[in-house]
Amino acid sequence: MATRALAIDEARIFAEDVRDGLNRSGQKELPSKYLYDDLGSRLFEAISLLPEYGLTRADERLLQRHACEIVERLPGDTVIAELGSGSGRKTRWILEAFSRKRHTSYFPIEISAAALQVCRRELSDIDSISIVGFEREYLDGMREAAARRRTGQRVLVLFLGSTIGNFDHPADVRFLSEIRNILEPGDVLLLGADLEKPVDLLLAAYDDPLGVTAAFNLNVLARINREMDADFPLDGFEHLARFNRDTGSIEMHLRSRRNQRITFARAGFSVLLREGETIWTETSHKYSLSEIERLATSTGFRNRAQWVDADWPFAETLLEAV
Ligand code: AVJ
Repeated sequence: MATRALAIDEARIFAEDVRDGLNRSGQKELPSKYLYDDLGSRLFEAISLLPEYGLTRADERLLQRHACEIVERLPGDTVIAELGSGSGRKTRWILEAFSRKRHTSYFPIEISAAALQVCRRELSDIDSISIVGFEREYLDGMREAAARRRTGQRVLVLFLGSTIGNFDHPADVRFLSEIRNILEPGDVLLLGADLEKPVDLLLAAYDDPLGVTAAFNLNVLARINREMDADFPLDGFEHLARFNRDTGSIEMHLRSRRNQRITFARAGFSVLLREGETIWTETSHKYSLSEIERLATSTGFRNRAQWVDADWPFAETLLEAV
């Protein structure tokens, strides 16, 4: 069956990515998307409730406050696609404002089946919005969603929560260009981006005293153990958050507490980690407003409007495909 073949394929790609990332001669790394299995997505939801982590609340505040203004700027006949809907909580404001205008379709695109389910449940009460979810990688899902537009309809892409910050530079440029290529002139992208802020705030946000972020980070090793029959001892690794001044990004790493060999039974290989050596698991870039502007114009968008949160520097930018 197609779904079964897909699952086998995904497992193979996962194993290849893990093998490639951990066999690097320099900095070892794991693609950050693998943090978000069902448990990882729930752990991120918990992070977003931490007092030290203001990002999600800032995003939500802006959307709540300005949803009407945002929606007023869109043509009436617009379908909405969202990259990484998560629980769908902050999307509610946009969808509710939109549903007052007219009936529309909402296409959440998610790699976590659990998140997609939560999102569907959370938003199903909104009248005159039909929800069709895609359990896909962003670009695949985006292509499918765009293919469902009827002639004359516009597409609004929601890319919230500063997920864009997970792409290293210039991967962020490449990604937005690919999104732009799927769109047509006049389509719009609402981009949420976390802004530069004092380093001590950032370090507290990414290394919280409760240890939720540490659990979120370590879960990627637990996931590899579960899905690849590997033997990472979780107490052999330590969560590390550090600010890279050269790139303006918070980095999450997992530091090996000792010299150790990890075996990946199913894929038939092993990897040696030295004491103190790290596996780089995530980048979270912090933007300046001029950087957002540059990113937008270099990928074929024009800045239509922008809203910035005063309490936790974060920007919502409405971009139009030119
Ligand atoms: C979901 C990608 C926006 O980068 O801040 C939170 C993920 N990692 N704490 C971020 C995350 C550690 C988060 N994003």
